[in-house]
Amino acid sequence: MSSVKERPIANLVAEDERSQCKITIVGVGAVGMACAVTILLKDLVDELALFDVAENKLKGKTMDLQHGSLFFSTSKIVSGKDIKISANSKLVIVTAGARQLEGESRLALVQHNVNIMKSIIPPIVQHSPDCKMLIVSNPVDILTFVVWKISGLPATRVIGSGCNLDSARFRYLIGEKLGVHPASCHGWIIGEHDDSSVPLWSGVNVAGVPLKSLNPELGTDSDKEQWNIVHKQVVESSKLIGPEGTDC
Ligand SMILES: NC(=O)c1ccc[n+]([C@@H]2O[C@H](COP(=O)([O-])OP(=O)(O)OC[C@H]3O[C@@H](n4cnc5c(N)ncnc54)[C@H](O)[C@@H]3O)[C@@H](O)[C@H]2O)c1
Repeated sequence: MSSVKERPIANLVAEDERSQCKITIVGVGAVGMACAVTILLKDLVDELALFDVAENKLKGKTMDLQHGSLFFSTSKIVSGKDIKISANSKLVIVTAGARQLEGESRLALVQHNVNIMKSIIPPIVQHSPDCKMLIVSNPVDILTFVVWKISGLPATRVIGSGCNLDSARFRYLIGEKLGVHPASCHGWIIGEHDDSSVPLWSGVNVAGVPLKSLNPELGTDSDKEQWNIVHKQVVESSKLIGPEGTDC
């Protein structure tokens, strides 16, 4: 006697159990969940896996996403307390780690978060030897280097989020100052994420018009419009730590 599940739909071909495009997120804190929701809303995967050491939190966050499946195309959302859950991933996003405490520098996080990387990276690579890794945990540039070394993967497969957040903030703040949507404001911040980042004023343009051509002093100390404050705001925005602030 066939079951309710089996009766309406007969399988004409054997189902392929392996996902074609799986992403694993390690760490389901604020950043991990923001990544998860974005990936699901953009319909980027056929399987999303979550891993975290905080078991109850992991269970709750997974249920939140699973129960929201109605609004996503991805139906396979899985999690587990064993890193095996990440097997066969195309991409592993690492957001696990301690946050900064108030007054603590990002560098103070190094040893703690290096230890976390040492414990999670080898089994991840073992279960997904062909994956790419995207590192977000701070201090992101140092940890990206550490993960590259620990993983044994080619450098082209271990990517840090670098100054992408800084550049996004930069473009938003330029847009706010000019009253223009950030999508039309272009500019990059390079170097190490956060405190020692460097804004590239020569490349800042709005819809292709370089702001330096309108104000040759742009970003310098002699700039009467004080555009260099925009970069200071970028750096300061990551100092707002706490439940309502950022930590990035
Ligand atoms: N690179 C960037 O632009 C950027 C932006 C924002 C945050 N960050 C960094 O990302 C990290 C996460 O930030 P958050 O706000 O999500 O923090 P969070 O405290 O909300 O979440 C961190 C999660 O990591 C988990 N975790 C800790 N140890 C783990 C382990 N061994 N294995 C698996 N999971 C583990 C914790 O249980 C927690 O759920 C921090 O290091 C933060 O500084 C970087």
